[in-house]
Amino acid sequence: MTVLKVCEYPHPVLKKKAARVEKVDDELRAFLDDMLETMYASDGVGLAAPQVGVSRRIVVIDIEQEEKGKRGNPLFFINPEIIWNSPEKEICDEGCLSIPGQRAEVERFAAVKVRYWDYDGKEHIILGEDFLSVALQHEIDHLDGILYIDRISRIKRNMLVKKLEKMRKEEAEEEI
Ligand code: NI
Repeated sequence: MTVLKVCEYPHPVLKKKAARVEKVDDELRAFLDDMLETMYASDGVGLAAPQVGVSRRIVVIDIEQEEKGKRGNPLFFINPEIIWNSPEKEICDEGCLSIPGQRAEVERFAAVKVRYWDYDGKEHIILGEDFLSVALQHEIDHLDGILYIDRISRIKRNMLVKKLEKMRKEEAEEEI
């Protein structure tokens, strides 16, 4: 397995609508394994294929890691599609591997039902509640070129992007 490079904001691949997967084969499964490895290596709970530069509709999520980066219960979602959402919404504190070091509060549906194919290409429907609901909506947004900062106010987004740029500048100066 290989740890892939994570594309960071404002990389153009993050704005693209990703293409559907037509078939699940060994080549795709090898990529799923690499995505999972990359997510754990980055201490993430979710990763979408566009974040590693591959514009296809694939997501990995593991919200059952006992400690960050430790394999818990990984879930693979190929061509995930939200087919139902709860009328209730909730506010959740979110971060993203493509926007390092930053977080913001985002409004999401409290629960969603998602249809998807698994690691073997079998179709399932999952009910995501609480944190899984948030993770699914965050990652599926990535497949449509939407970042969580697109779902907050412009003022908050501008502040967050400024903080990100400041952090990068400080890191670059430390390396000199
Ligand atoms: Ni993200």
